[in-house]
Amino acid sequence: MPGQASVAVINPSNYKFLQEHVYSHAGLVLEGDKHYLFESRLAPIVRQLGLASIDDLCALIQSSRQPELAHQVAEAMTTNETYFFRDPSHYCAIRTVLLPRLMEERRDSKKLRFWSAASSTGQEAYSLAMLLIEAGLSDWNIQILGTDFSSQVVERARSGKYQQIEVNRGLPATLLVKYFGRSGTEWQLSDQVRRLVCFETIDLRKSMRALGPFDLVFCRNVMIYFDAETKSKILRELYGTMFGGSWLLLGGAETASGAAEYFDRQTVGNAVVYVAR
Ligand SMILES: C[S@@+](CC[C@H](N)C(=O)[O-])C[C@H]1O[C@@H](n2cnc3c(N)ncnc32)[C@H](O)[C@@H]1O
Repeated sequence: MPGQASVAVINPSNYKFLQEHVYSHAGLVLEGDKHYLFESRLAPIVRQLGLASIDDLCALIQSSRQPELAHQVAEAMTTNETYFFRDPSHYCAIRTVLLPRLMEERRDSKKLRFWSAASSTGQEAYSLAMLLIEAGLSDWNIQILGTDFSSQVVERARSGKYQQIEVNRGLPATLLVKYFGRSGTEWQLSDQVRRLVCFETIDLRKSMRALGPFDLVFCRNVMIYFDAETKSKILRELYGTMFGGSWLLLGGAETASGAAEYFDRQTVGNAVVYVAR
């Protein structure tokens, strides 16, 4: 499109500024040549503000002290890829081993609390909610908290509305039929599932202990974006939200090595899970 080439221009000092900005605002490490990523994610903001280029956007952030704009730019640089029942081995471990143990331990209170940290558009939290209903926990006091840095994805998660392409990814047809209804061109999750889950905007680098305690925490596919120091600080904070014996589930490319003294690594079927000491 005419004019788009100039919008995407980033001079070297602004490129460094953007890397530091995203690191200081969200903890994300975007090293090496990520020009294409900054260009594709920030060009819509440039156009929305009627600016001529990403360089102009940088100048505006630096001169105007607009915290919302600063946050919007960091938010645009988050990667929100997710889908229903991502990493099925985790859900299999929950269904067959972790949940039966939790149900036994909490049989008197019948209360369980779960956290989907870095929940993106909500598929992880809602997958768990459907699994729990399918496991017969409808009469339990179930609380699932979903949190994310990006207020945009939190809003989407709250809506419980998904496009066809999103329900085609990972969601068994039986669950689509059972828990979703048509809403125009989208699919709307039923209240039965939605009422188990609430979503908040939370930066994982902040103190999180007050959110707990949780019986099981998902923190998947977000640690890969942080440096070692941020990662171990977050793992310590996550530990502070758990009971001794609670489970932590990380993404396939992630480990709890930065906080080995807090967690024991276990294998359950094909899944790796971490148990809080
Ligand atoms: C790739 S998604 C992972 C979604 C889901 N956990 C999954 O595995 O399918 C990573 C999410 O982490 C969020 N994120 C990035 N930095 C964050 C931070 N500092 N605090 C909280 N969430 C953050 C992003 O907004 C994004 O939605």
